[in-house]
Amino acid sequence: MPIVTAAPESIARAARLLRDGQLVAFPTETVYGLGADASNGEAVARIYEAKGRPRFNPLIAHVADLAAAKRIAVLEGRALLLAEAFWPGPLTLVLPRRSDGGVCDLATAGLDTVGVRIPDHPVALALLSATGRPVAAPSANRSGHVSPTTAHHVEADLGSAPAMILDGGPCRHGLESTILDASGEKIVILRAGAITADAIEACLGEAILRCHTSMAGSRPSSPGQLASHYAPKATMRLEVVLPEPDEALLAFGPAVPSHHGPVVNLSATGDLVEAAANLFAALRQLDTMSAARIAVMPIPGHGLGVAINDRLQRAAAPRPAEDRLPCD
Ligand code: TXA
Ligand code: MG
Repeated sequence: MPIVTAAPESIARAARLLRDGQLVAFPTETVYGLGADASNGEAVARIYEAKGRPRFNPLIAHVADLAAAKRIAVLEGRALLLAEAFWPGPLTLVLPRRSDGGVCDLATAGLDTVGVRIPDHPVALALLSATGRPVAAPSANRSGHVSPTTAHHVEADLGSAPAMILDGGPCRHGLESTILDASGEKIVILRAGAITADAIEACLGEAILRCHTSMAGSRPSSPGQLASHYAPKATMRLEVVLPEPDEALLAFGPAVPSHHGPVVNLSATGDLVEAAANLFAALRQLDTMSAARIAVMPIPGHGLGVAINDRLQRAAAPRPAEDRLPCD
């Protein structure tokens, strides 16, 4: 039974589990989150596995204080004003990501931005302080289900996938955080939430853009799909058994065909968790090798392989319209 009442001792244990690369569900003022050490790619991959998410959406990095936020992201100007006004609280700021900030590529889905938030919940804050690392956490539900607002909802959806579910009672808001893209010239609302656009405009003294997700035909629950995704510069060929001599090879598993060009293996043992953790770094690495074409070996289509193949297919295809931000 992974549900444990939140108390100093159980919070300390939960922090140790997170630092060991395990998943911990915890309460916030909005909904329960399914947390993993954001610096640990394999731990983050297990979030996707546990949720059964068919694609890699960027995750929110939760931190305990402003100093920790500034270590992972560039937080200045109007974004800092918003952070000081609304944190701790139900506001997620999408900010330029610091490359040395310790948030792994999989947690941001390879983007150069990172969503950051300081939750306003004593249990979450105590857990984040004790962990001492940013914690990547989507809502703690199976993909496609509603967000959980009690520990029992989490257990009903995820069973024993989290090593612990910290029970801090029902969530106050029951609605996810407002997401603001503050990484560019204009401030854009990507997801409406507990903090209103009016409150944000009153704080800034200027109008912000509301992103009408319907314009892109995308579901509003997935604003990350509207962000520009990382795509390699090289063209990609999938399900390749025999790479051509001028191609770089993105390999998977122990049986790699002999190849004279560059080879990057997502997982030499054929482990999908390791492959997911390595995916975005591998795509970047192949790009720096300046190969014009990348051949990708077949990746199994089960478990995390679904999200890996989704990402590879979208990298291989021409950019679909919904990958562009529809509101500017
Ligand atoms: O209230 C909340 O925000 C809860 C609690 C646990 O903090 N978390 C939550 O996470 O709702 P999730 O993963 O269910 O939704 C976060 C959304 C995703 O749709 C994702 O695409 C978007 O935030 N997001 C995160 N980082 C982003 C980025 N760098 N750029 C654009 N969108 C981003
Ligand atoms: Mg969610």
